[in-house]
Amino acid sequence: MGRNRIGVVGAGFVGATLAQRLADAQLGDVVLSDIKELDGMPQGKALDIMETGPIVGSDARMVGTTAVEDMKDCDVIVITAGLARKPGMTREDLIDKNAGILRGVVERVSISSPNAILIVVTNPLDVMAYLAYKVSKFPKNRVVGMAGVLDAARFAFFIAEKLNCSSQDVRAMVLGSHGDTMVPLPRFTSVWGVPITELLSEEAVEQLVNRTRDGGAEIVKLLKQGSAYYAPSQSVLVMVQSILRDEKRLLPACAVLDGEYGLKDIMMGVPVILGRTGVERVVELRLRPEELKMFKDSAAKVAEGTRHMKLA
Ligand code: APR
Repeated sequence: MGRNRIGVVGAGFVGATLAQRLADAQLGDVVLSDIKELDGMPQGKALDIMETGPIVGSDARMVGTTAVEDMKDCDVIVITAGLARKPGMTREDLIDKNAGILRGVVERVSISSPNAILIVVTNPLDVMAYLAYKVSKFPKNRVVGMAGVLDAARFAFFIAEKLNCSSQDVRAMVLGSHGDTMVPLPRFTSVWGVPITELLSEEAVEQLVNRTRDGGAEIVKLLKQGSAYYAPSQSVLVMVQSILRDEKRLLPACAVLDGEYGLKDIMMGVPVILGRTGVERVVELRLRPEELKMFKDSAAKVAEGTRHMKLA
C-alpha cells in the first residue's frame, strides 16, 4: 500500500498550519494549493515545511502548487479556500463570497480525486459543507465539516481554566451549527467522567457556554485581521488522523443528517464516528426538549443559509 495523499486547498493561515501539522504527524504526502495569482507562495511554504523534516524526523513529502491538476488521487481533501471573517462580519455575510470559491474548488477536486473524503473548513461552515456535498455528489459519508472539535476544544479550555484543572481531562460536547446558534451540551461534558454540572454552578456553566458560542468572534476581535488558525488546524488534524488511521474516534463534526434528530437533507454538528470510510455513523443522542429546541433553532438558521445559495 502506498502512502496516503492529503490535499489541502488554500495555503493561508489554516491551510499552511495544517500542512505543517500533517507533515509533523507523518500522516501522508501533502499537496498544498492556492490560486494562480499567488504562484510561489504555496511552493515556498511547502519547501519551508519540508526543510523542517530533518529537524523533526519527518519524511513526509509536500508539493506546493497553483496548478489545479496537481490535486489528484487524494485520499482526503481539506478545503480551507475562502475569505476569513473580518470584524463585524457575520458568518452569513460570508456566504456569497465563499460559495463561489467553494463551488469552483469542489467541481474540480471531485473529478480529480473521485474517491476522496472531503473535510470542509471554510465558513460559514455548515452551509459550505452542504454546498460541497451537493456539488461533489459524493455519498454522505464522504463529506464532513470541521467545527465541533474546535468548538468543543474551546469549551473544554474555558472549563479547565475556570476549574483550574488539566484540560486533558475535560471532554466537551457541542452540537448544532458553527455560529451563534451552536448548542454546547453541559450534560454531556465532563472532567474525566464527572459531569461539569456537578462541579460548576448553573450560572458559571452558562457563562462558559456563552464564551464558547462567541469563541471565534473573540479571536477575530483580538487579531483585528484574519481569524483563528492554531486550534482550527489542530482540530482538522485529529479528524484526518481518525480517518486515515481508521481510529473510529467519536468526535463532534458537521455531517449530513438523513433522518437523524428528525432532520433530512441538511448538514449540522453532531457526534460521529470517523474512520477510513469517513462518517461511519451519526450518533443520535436522546436530547431533552430544551436541548432539542436549541438544536432545531440552529437547524433553521443553517437551512436559511442553505436556501440563500439556491442550490435546488
Ligand atoms: N483555490 C485555492 N485557494 C484559494 C482559492 C481557490 N479557489 N480561493 C482562495 N484561496 C486561498 C486564498 O488565496 C488564501 O491563501 O485560500 C486561502 C485562505 O487563507 P486565509 O485568507 O489565510 O484564511 P484562513 O485564516 O486560512 O481561513 C480559511 O477557514 O476558518 C475558516 O473562516 C475561515 O473561511 C475561512 C477559512
